[in-house]
Amino acid sequence: MSNQIVIEKTKSPKQKPDQNNLGFGLYFTDHMFIMEYTEGKGWHDPKIVPYAPLSLDPSCMVFHYGQAIFEGLKAYKGSNGEILLFRPKKNMERVNISNDRLCIPSIDVDFAVEAVKALVNVDKDWIPEAEGTSLYIRPFIIATDPNLGVRPSHTYKFMIILSPVGAYYKEGLNPVKIYVESNYVRAVKGGIGFAKTPGNYASSLKAQMEAKEKGYTQVLWLDGVEKKYVEEVGTMNVFFKINGEVITPSLEGSILSGITRSSTIELLNSMGVKVTERKIAIQEIYDAHANGTLEEAFGTGTAAVISPIGELNWNGNVVEINNGKIGELSSKIYDAITGIQSGKLEDKFGWTVKI
Ligand code: COI
Repeated sequence: MSNQIVIEKTKSPKQKPDQNNLGFGLYFTDHMFIMEYTEGKGWHDPKIVPYAPLSLDPSCMVFHYGQAIFEGLKAYKGSNGEILLFRPKKNMERVNISNDRLCIPSIDVDFAVEAVKALVNVDKDWIPEAEGTSLYIRPFIIATDPNLGVRPSHTYKFMIILSPVGAYYKEGLNPVKIYVESNYVRAVKGGIGFAKTPGNYASSLKAQMEAKEKGYTQVLWLDGVEKKYVEEVGTMNVFFKINGEVITPSLEGSILSGITRSSTIELLNSMGVKVTERKIAIQEIYDAHANGTLEEAFGTGTAAVISPIGELNWNGNVVEINNGKIGELSSKIYDAITGIQSGKLEDKFGWTVKI
C-alpha cells in the first residue's frame, strides 16, 4: 500500500459553529479521510477530501448485516496553540480488536494514527477552545460489497470525520441519573460487547428510550446471564467509591475496554487511591448505600469524559449518591484527565501526542 495521503482541499469552507453552543456531534468540519480496502490488494488510496455525502449501493453489506466498527477520540488546542491528541494509538489498537471480532481486515495502527494527525492538521482551525470543548474524532469502517449473502465483505471503507463538540450530556459535569436495566441486556460473554460496533448501540436504544421516559439520562447494564453484576453505562464505563476504595467491573469479555477507563485506573493508582477491577453486584452497591459506605459513583468515556452519577434506580429502589452532587474524587479525576488532555497539566504518563 502506498502510505501517501493525497490531500484535496475544499474550495468552499463552511461557517464554523458558535463554540459556546456546540452540543455533541452536530457539526462536521470541512474535510474527511477515506481509504479503501479491496481483497487481494489490501488498504489503498488514502485520501483527505472535502466533507461530503457518500454514494453507496443500496445493497452494501453494512446496511443489511451491520458489519462495521467505530472509534472515538479527541483533539485539544493547548494554551500555546499546540494541538494534542489523547492516546490515539490505543484507539487504533482497539480498531483491530473490533475488526477481528467483526471479520474486518486489520489496519496499520501507526498509519491510522498518522491519518488522524493529517486530517486534524488540515482542519485545525475547527478545534474549539472554549472551556469543556474539543474536536471529536470519529474513525469508522464499513463493509461495502454490494451483496445480500451473509458473509464477510471483500471491500471496505475506512473513514475519519471530525466534529467540534461540547459536553456529551446536557448535565455537563453535573451528576446524571441512571436507570439500572433489569429487563433488556446489552451483551454476553462470547458476543460482541467488547467490540466497538454499531450493533451494541442499536440494541441499547430501546432501554435508553424507556429510561428517558422515566426521567433517566442513561441505563446501567447488568450482566446478560444473571442480571446481577454491573457491566457498563450506555456510553461509559463505571466506577464506584465504596469505603475509600474505588471499584470498577473487570473486563469479562462483554464490557468495552475504555481508554478513559484505563487512564482513570492509572491516575487513581498514581494518586495512591486503591482501585480494584472485579465483578461487582448491584446488590453490593445498594448495601453500601444502605450502610453509608457508598461515597461516589462516576462514568468514564471519551465523549462523556468523567460523568458523576447522582442517582440510581434499580427496580424502583432509588438511591441518591453523594447527595446528588459531584464527589471530591470524581472532580479530581475530571480535572486531572482534562488538564492532561488539554495540555494545562504536566503529562507525566506520556499520554498526549502533539501534532
Ligand atoms: C465515545 O465515548 O467516544 C463513544 O464512542 C461513546 C459514544 C457512542 C458517543
